[in-house]
Amino acid sequence: MQKTDLRPLTLITGGAQGIGKALALEFAKTGHDLLLVSRNTQKLEKIADEISEQHGVNVLFLACDLTLVKSIGEIETLLHKEQYYVQNLVNNAGFGLAGPFAGHQPDEVRAMIDLNVRALTDLSRLFLPDMLARKSGGILNVSSMGGLLPGPYQAAYYASKAYVISLTQALSWECLGTNVHISTLAPGPVRTDFHATMGARSELYVKSGGGISAKKAARMGYSGFKCGQCLIIPSFLGQIGALALKILPHDLLMPIMGWFLKARIKQHGQ
Ligand SMILES: NC(=O)c1ccc[n+]([C@@H]2O[C@H](COP(=O)([O-])OP(=O)(O)OC[C@H]3O[C@@H](n4cnc5c(N)ncnc54)[C@H](OP(=O)(O)O)[C@@H]3O)[C@@H](O)[C@H]2O)c1
Repeated sequence: MQKTDLRPLTLITGGAQGIGKALALEFAKTGHDLLLVSRNTQKLEKIADEISEQHGVNVLFLACDLTLVKSIGEIETLLHKEQYYVQNLVNNAGFGLAGPFAGHQPDEVRAMIDLNVRALTDLSRLFLPDMLARKSGGILNVSSMGGLLPGPYQAAYYASKAYVISLTQALSWECLGTNVHISTLAPGPVRTDFHATMGARSELYVKSGGGISAKKAARMGYSGFKCGQCLIIPSFLGQIGALALKILPHDLLMPIMGWFLKARIKQHGQ
């Protein structure tokens, strides 16, 4: 089959829930076929049916663990079989680790770097050359406002998101004038399962119950990406915060972040 006979789709990692699911809906609304990738087959099947019924687009899904290098080959195999190419890549799947770095299990830290950093980099490197050759599409990487500064008690997670912002900003510059958009969506707290999954329950930022909805984060992420915005901060408060982070020295912010991110109850094993 000629490359030109292939059909375009948007690949969304972690597209079965939270921000990824909301982003999938935004892309589907404007007629994009989708490939959703995460680990839970039942969830993927359900959301794929829901989206294709609501929006009349074709939604493929693949259950695989992106912390494993072989998952990249599994994605390529499915695309080849279904005769699609990746027009847009949304690197959204990610998780965090709460608590002191010295208390994390080494395997957990490795898995987080594999997902938040390695898989995102592998997928970007795999699909970007074709986007540049076609002069269309792009990559939307979901980072976090946490990537804008060091985060004591979520140290490795914040560092992983700093990598995502740095990579995105550099690639965006490299792709200027190519019609390929490289953006990063950097939300502050969003109301999803993310915080419970990472074990953050008693931290002040969780207890304060703030945060925006996944729908709002996705809506602003999608429109920013389509407009070619490089760093997308999906709330007014977040934008003010990001401005302050540019001015205030990290040495001053570190104690405030540590206070904000530290668990308020004694954790098991500490
Ligand atoms: N929520 C927030 O406050 C917030 C703020 C800033 C940035 N973010 C970022 O936003 C992104 C999405 O987070 P969310 O809030 O929507 O969290 P979420 O509801 O926990 O969703 C995470 C998604 O990633 C998938 N995933 C996790 N591990 C995976 C693996 N090994 N292989 C494949 N898929 C995997 C999950 O599906 P399965 O578990 O079924 O595999 C799920 O679909 C993350 O990158 C996160 O860092 C979140």
